[in-house]
Amino acid sequence: MPGPFDAALDSWREWQQSPWGRLRYTLAEFNLRRRLEELGPGPLRVLDLAGADGGDALPLLRRGHHVTIADFSPGMLAAARERAEGEGAGERLITVEADVFELPGSVTARRYDVVLCHNLLQYLDDPAPALRTAASLVRDGGVLSVMAINRHATALGLAVRSLDPAAALGALDRRTTHGETFGTELTLHTAEEIIPLMAEAGCTGIEHCGIRNVNDHITDDSRKHEPEFYAALEALELAMTDRHPYPHTAKIFQLLARVA
Ligand SMILES: C[S@@+](CC[C@H](N)C(=O)[O-])C[C@H]1O[C@@H](n2cnc3c(N)ncnc32)[C@H](O)[C@@H]1O
Repeated sequence: MPGPFDAALDSWREWQQSPWGRLRYTLAEFNLRRRLEELGPGPLRVLDLAGADGGDALPLLRRGHHVTIADFSPGMLAAARERAEGEGAGERLITVEADVFELPGSVTARRYDVVLCHNLLQYLDDPAPALRTAASLVRDGGVLSVMAINRHATALGLAVRSLDPAAALGALDRRTTHGETFGTELTLHTAEEIIPLMAEAGCTGIEHCGIRNVNDHITDDSRKHEPEFYAALEALELAMTDRHPYPHTAKIFQLLARVA
């Protein structure tokens, strides 16, 4: 069902350019870079499952890596190609229009140094098959990065941002929410649920990072548009991303692992 994703490309772009959208990509790149350095200088072969318009692919392309994005939204893939070509990296990007559960042989015929599965799980009731697919496409010793919206953040957000403790109470045991950007129902997961599934799929050394550990608790969003304030917030988020317990209540979790 690529429809809602293509239809909302403009609001998606707007979200990506917001301070909180920029934090999401900056933190993801920071966390990935640390793990990718362990694999040597590259260039590496990266598969980005549900990679959309290339928000994670672009920084990797800029560093000389080769990226394949598999996504079922043609509009998202066209935007990814446009962005990569605009930076002179078009020849290192392959886009494949496909459902991640029906990947063509051109994608599955090889194993990748790095596989990204970022913000796909919230569209799936059962995350296990997607995690098994993602892990199966990583070469021995390669890296898998999984990212999703953290269910623990929902009740906190309703209490702190919406000042609605009654709604927060009601959300404590709810697994679904309405996603505003694409207007779809989302199933929310937690890192604590996903980590054992990744281990079953062959992942080792799973690192749990938090993205937006504090951003969403600062309710004055206008301050985040001020360059100095944003720089200080970004520095804080970078320092907190792997400092527990903060990641447990972050808006987004990112799990990075080796696949044996
Ligand atoms: C929230 S968007 C962005 C995901 C991107 N990885 C990111 O974090 O910037 C979700 C993307 O997942 C894609 N998608 C959702 N379910 C999919 C599926 N079963 N197969 C392929 N693509 C899918 C949509 O087309 C959309 O581009």
